[in-house]
Amino acid sequence: MRWPTKGLSFGGDYSPEQWSWDVVLEDIDLMHEAGVNLVTLGVFSWVIHEPRDGHFDFSWLDRMLDLLSDNGIGVDLATPTAAVPMWLHRLHPEILPQDTHGHPLAPGGRLGWCPSSPVFRTYALRIVERLAEHAAGHPALRMWHVSNELGGGNARCHCPISNARFREWLAAKYRTVTALNAAWGMSFWGNTYSSFEEVTTPWGITAHNPGHLLDYERFSSDELLAHFRAEKDVLRRLTPDVPITTNFMVGLGPDVVDYTRWAGEMDIVANDHYTFGPDPLKHEDLAFSGDRMRGMSGGRPWMLMEHAAGAGSWHPINQPKVPGEISRHAIAHLARGSDSVMFFQWRASTSGTEQFHSAMVPHAGPDSAVFRDVIALGRQVAALAEVQGSIVEPADVALLHDNEAGWALRSGLKPMNGHGYADTARAIHNALFERAVTTDIVPPWADLDRYRLVVIPGLFLLSDENAQAVQAYVESGGTVLITWFSGVVDERNAVRRGGYPGLLRSVTGSLSEELFPLDGQDAVRLDNGWTGRRWMERMRAPQHAGVETVASYADGAYAGEPAITRRRTGAGTAWYLSTDLDAASLGELVDRVLSETQIRPTAVVAPGVEAVRRASSDASYLFLINHADVDGWAQASGTDLLTGHEHSELVSLPPGAVAVLREHTPQR
Ligand code: GLA
Repeated sequence: MRWPTKGLSFGGDYSPEQWSWDVVLEDIDLMHEAGVNLVTLGVFSWVIHEPRDGHFDFSWLDRMLDLLSDNGIGVDLATPTAAVPMWLHRLHPEILPQDTHGHPLAPGGRLGWCPSSPVFRTYALRIVERLAEHAAGHPALRMWHVSNELGGGNARCHCPISNARFREWLAAKYRTVTALNAAWGMSFWGNTYSSFEEVTTPWGITAHNPGHLLDYERFSSDELLAHFRAEKDVLRRLTPDVPITTNFMVGLGPDVVDYTRWAGEMDIVANDHYTFGPDPLKHEDLAFSGDRMRGMSGGRPWMLMEHAAGAGSWHPINQPKVPGEISRHAIAHLARGSDSVMFFQWRASTSGTEQFHSAMVPHAGPDSAVFRDVIALGRQVAALAEVQGSIVEPADVALLHDNEAGWALRSGLKPMNGHGYADTARAIHNALFERAVTTDIVPPWADLDRYRLVVIPGLFLLSDENAQAVQAYVESGGTVLITWFSGVVDERNAVRRGGYPGLLRSVTGSLSEELFPLDGQDAVRLDNGWTGRRWMERMRAPQHAGVETVASYADGAYAGEPAITRRRTGAGTAWYLSTDLDAASLGELVDRVLSETQIRPTAVVAPGVEAVRRASSDASYLFLINHADVDGWAQASGTDLLTGHEHSELVSLPPGAVAVLREHTPQR
């Protein structure tokens, strides 16, 4: 499907329904000034299109589509199903989702609908159909934006309809209640079902069965995906050539719905990403989500649908971007494969829930630092037009990430409760980021053969099939770095017998018998001088199985016993790390693994400089971003598309500087 704009897309969510016509006309002028070429329109406009049940009025939409297209601005048109009209709530209060106490949520806000509600689905598809019939063929229509952040508020419903649908979903999956009982291990606490009719969504009682909880997460994701597909089918039928997407909320994960399994349904995969002002690692958080998006898009360009020009408003404190950050963050998304820079939102609202959320045009108006930064960014995005369609250079490192593993980890009681599924993934990703090594974050079923190194960080759940794929990968010469609490359960969320990391024992040769979380700030020393935190495992590392102990615990309950092992398996190598190394120790481990696998950085750069390469058939583009507050540099040669400067051999990068080089010698 065609990309919605010529060159990179630049713009944001636009809600002209909040403004008088004179403001709208000013918006168009300002959009020209900033170089906006795409806006997302109509996200919350259901009540405008259908002010009363069955009465449709698209005059406002026509006016906006005409105005935008007359001014050369394309439209990513939203189906308005995130914004249920109040008249629909009054007519059908039963569409509201119910919480774990069986209480319906109050109308208002957004996404006030149960994903399984047939009544809501009927109304939703009717407005989608009328909207698509109306907008079909309009020159402004470049893309469909289905609803908004599906699951952001309505992902888990416990109403009677959801309960009935959950039972149907389980019956389709397990066929017999005996199979269901076996899968979830319902003989524990004598919870055995005698009929599917006895099953409910997990609510009310704490400490539910882990298999039950995990299946409920899967079910909830599937119900929302069914909704997406239903809308998509209508849009595809009426506008077969217009690309269709919905905006994901991909961050560290696990996600609210299983975006990795949804991604194949999108013509273009799109994401909303928000950094947290005080987070010292926000640039790496951004890179993590970008690397996940690329993993979901199969390496093809993806779309940054929303990010912020400044502060959000849902954290306890909400800080604006510091000078230079607007451009740095936007370009960092481009570096990792986005072909767009889109914001929430164009103009800051004065009323409503998000009245203090930042925007491209802030409350202060166009005579402001933020809007001047937006204009400057628009120029940068235009200068980078030729990058559109290029792809991020294939990475040597894959990091396995699976929402189901994260859901399984938070489903039920564990040796350490409440630790973040992605903590270890992020620590290793950060170590690689600091070494200018690009990482593809992919699901465990991805093709691993193209990677020199596969990182398996705290991947709690691993299926038989995916474990076999890891084994085949190592045997044929690959290297894996497996960390603590990986491979522990199967797809039922049942613990695999025989020791941890479950089936991956076949590659590690070592196994852990016991899991020993550490209290708070407690640390454990290793005999090579490294430091572990949070977690230890009591390991067996049999030499006769070819296992080498790289480091042992030097103190604590397991003093003298192995902490890190390494084994040649077939033609490859498997590392096992049984503790949570601190950053310095982890860095040393990563250095050793990178040197053994001969993985080189994208470019030789000073500390704090991010380096990512995108390549097309005839050019390569090196993105360089200095996130540090000291002078940086990179060894590279090329023409900086942002400034026109020629660089040979060394690029100096003052604090916060960005350069995008079309390299003199294309690297592919
Ligand atoms: C999300 C939503 C937007 C807005 C922003 C900012 O990404 O899609 O409508 O609420 O967050 O909070």
